[in-house]
Amino acid sequence: MTDNANVVKPDLADATITVLGLGHIGLPTALGLAELGHHVIGADDDAGKVERIRSGDPIFYEPGLNDLLAKHLQSGRFQPVSKVDFAVQSGTIIFICVGTPQKANGQADLAQVEAVARVVARNLNGYKLIVEKSTVPAITAQWLKRTIVRYNLGKPPVAEGESKSGQPSPASPDFDVASNPEFLREGKALEDFFRPDRIVCGVESERARRILTSLYSPLQRPIVVTDISTAELIKHAANAFLSTKISFINMVADLCEKVGADVTAVTNGIGLDSRIGPQFLDAGIGYGGYCFPKDVRAFIYLAEEHGVDFSLLQEVERVNQRRVDIFVRKVRQALWTLPGKTLGILGLAFKAGTDDIREAVSLKIMQALLGEGTHLRVYDPQAIPNTQREFPPATENLTYCASAYEAAQGAQALLLLTEWEEFRQLDLLRLRDLMEVPILVDGRNLFNPETVRQAGFEYVSMGRDGVKPEVRHANQGKATP
Ligand code: UGA
Repeated sequence: MTDNANVVKPDLADATITVLGLGHIGLPTALGLAELGHHVIGADDDAGKVERIRSGDPIFYEPGLNDLLAKHLQSGRFQPVSKVDFAVQSGTIIFICVGTPQKANGQADLAQVEAVARVVARNLNGYKLIVEKSTVPAITAQWLKRTIVRYNLGKPPVAEGESKSGQPSPASPDFDVASNPEFLREGKALEDFFRPDRIVCGVESERARRILTSLYSPLQRPIVVTDISTAELIKHAANAFLSTKISFINMVADLCEKVGADVTAVTNGIGLDSRIGPQFLDAGIGYGGYCFPKDVRAFIYLAEEHGVDFSLLQEVERVNQRRVDIFVRKVRQALWTLPGKTLGILGLAFKAGTDDIREAVSLKIMQALLGEGTHLRVYDPQAIPNTQREFPPATENLTYCASAYEAAQGAQALLLLTEWEEFRQLDLLRLRDLMEVPILVDGRNLFNPETVRQAGFEYVSMGRDGVKPEVRHANQGKATP
């Protein structure tokens, strides 16, 4: 990674940037901005977390993050703090990257965003641009603005900086809000920060537009400037659309099995159509993670709240939820009976490149298989510590393993649930010899069926193992005259 300090635009050269929330979005964003040459204060009210970050531990696994954190703790351009008031007072551009969890009804829980708005309100000491980066429902920015004004009442007038009108007014606090949704993928967060497909800036003042576009111009990527509600909607629509692609291809995979077709060839065949594209058409056990499941539900809720029948997305969610049963059924079909069987599990993280297990389909599958009375030997290159918080090591019938080979030891089937590159490189013959029965059920279509079968495995995958049904003639089954 090169040091981009020299490309900072003059008008932002000494503006301090504050990032509120140092999680999967906030930390990569803060370090990315530090790498671009800015002085960044990263604040989180979890003092223990800040202490660890300050000592060089990014807390979660994300490729490249360790090095970038070390680099900018050293350069002094990244300053992690737990005093959120201080962080807001010090920053001119404030990125809100706090969590937006979910309520039982699917609605986004914006309590943390509101709390941040109140901290901002009591610390407005000059012009500030407040930027939402967390995924939030449309019109959240309007609430943000209203909350800041509401809680700023009675506070001292704006002390410094230019106001929107050019004239600081004691009656109205001087700030803009903007929406700059993030499209970072876990496991590729830094890559996505430095080379995003596009950057979306939802603004309602020329000043906010100028600040955000000059902040990102060194990246030389397309910048889409919209109003704020549109920017908020773009983020939700993007995640909902990608989830739709995944559920769509999973249904195609099920159909492929019935008619003896190969879903990977279908993906290739449709993906080469530039109107469709090949990405996010990998069939498998379904989507998981902190974003897609939650964002699809929040989008459904938003539509319902506004009287729009978006039942398409309800179906996307239903299709996704069925993947667990479909996969477990495959395992049962391969093994005939499940109780008492030993199964090796390769992969726990919700996808490769992360240690995140939130809403991981693999964990739902684990739960279902434990419920069927199987013994599980599980392995993941990164996600074991997080999984152990959900399934403690003392869990009955569960053994944590230090390698894929250890997980295969004595197993009657191996189940591949996360598409780690490391699994693709496994020595299949060694794996086979370790197992009691060499069956591989590949929930991600990671392997080439022929290679695995040649290595002596019985191989089951997603949407590729169907047998062509016999052609039935129109008069078949009818009595002949
Ligand atoms: C997703 C979006 O891709 C990011 O653009 C967005 O910024 C982020 O959510 C967010 O809202 O914060 P992420 O959750 O990190 O990123 O993961 P993805 O790579 O999108 O994968 C999501 C799930 O879909 C994973 O479980 C993955 O295994 C699954 N998936 C993905 C498939 O089953 N098939 C595919 O073809 C692609």
